[in-house]
Amino acid sequence: MSDPLADLFRASFAGDPTHLSRAPGRVNLIGEHTDYNGLPVFPMALQREVRIELRPRRDGLVTLVNADPEFEAVEFEVGVAIPPGPTGHWGNYVKAPAQELARRHAIIRGFDGVLASDVPVASGLSSSSALVNAVGLALAEVNELGLDALEMSEIMADAERYTGTRGGGMDQAISMCARVGHAARIDFHPLRLKHVPVPEDWRFVVADTGVRAEKSGPAQAAYNRRRSECEEALKLVAPRLARARLTPRPPAGYAEMLRSVPDDEVLAVGEEVLPDTLYKRFRHVVTENARVVEAQDLLLQADHPGFGTLMDESHGSLRSDYHVSSAELDELVAFAKEGGAAGARLTGAGFGGCIVALADTDTVDDVVESLVCGYYEPRKLTDRLDQRMFLAVPSAGASFGEL
Ligand code: GLA
Repeated sequence: MSDPLADLFRASFAGDPTHLSRAPGRVNLIGEHTDYNGLPVFPMALQREVRIELRPRRDGLVTLVNADPEFEAVEFEVGVAIPPGPTGHWGNYVKAPAQELARRHAIIRGFDGVLASDVPVASGLSSSSALVNAVGLALAEVNELGLDALEMSEIMADAERYTGTRGGGMDQAISMCARVGHAARIDFHPLRLKHVPVPEDWRFVVADTGVRAEKSGPAQAAYNRRRSECEEALKLVAPRLARARLTPRPPAGYAEMLRSVPDDEVLAVGEEVLPDTLYKRFRHVVTENARVVEAQDLLLQADHPGFGTLMDESHGSLRSDYHVSSAELDELVAFAKEGGAAGARLTGAGFGGCIVALADTDTVDDVVESLVCGYYEPRKLTDRLDQRMFLAVPSAGASFGEL
């Protein structure tokens, strides 16, 4: 059978590829902007993925050719200080895992590889973490580092900061560790996953606004600012909790704080001490955390309407308190609901990108039709519709093997 990626390999290098490294994108079902606050998230991996066909080298060079001709090939020597390319260059997501692994382990072998991805780019579906993971896994395996999926997830989360985004660890963890047919609640510090089966008749519709949310563009500054705002809010609230004797000492993080003090008391103190914007950010984080905890139970009980309601509430909070939605995202959410979705929300960092809507086998066609008629047709975005909108299939995490 002809394999276009292998053909590209033969055209780019002499001989055949020997191994495949793959890592999926993800859709986050609930728990947005909580991971970098040390609080849980609830994503699942997608059937869309980054695939690298490769052949290990004897030296430390990495050469990676992208099947999409828009992206020029990258080539560099693996080391502890790899000079980055221009901001936003895709090669930085290739160099990121290489540098981080080299800082921690002996990386003596690189690889020649060709890459193809069907994860939509800059859409909130973690195309970048899928790339980081696929490259990182390839290098870890080629160098026989013997790292497990959890260790790899943590290293890859640190690695991606090379690109300038101070992300949490959600994307790398779900892309590395996901299980077929399951979503996962992910907790941090220490990193752990609880896999929860997705009921067979549930359907998650992913729909793209068509507005790119470039992680390396203006969205990066807005994202990093949200993160700082959360840190600042905690710094103001934590000592006040201790002074009010609600905690024995100022809690060191959101997780510790929410473990020790009921949400309503935390919010009351927050309202007292925080300026308006900071309070809103803080309120989103506290309430979103509660929604994640509840969502896990509701998924276990296959409570479709209940889970949908939480998704709606999450979107409302991301829009009004966290200010990361947009007119287009709000519109897609509204059309999904009009079509009969049990719930719908923006997914990923926001500022553009995708929504995720919860339907079931009976309602999914109406939801899709409502999105097409309400959003895509009036905007003349009906070309490549299968790229813009698809059903998310809960898929397996990254893997590496011989071809
Ligand atoms: C991006 C980051 C994640 C997470 C989400 C928002 O996808 O990479 O770590 O913070 O935004 O929930």
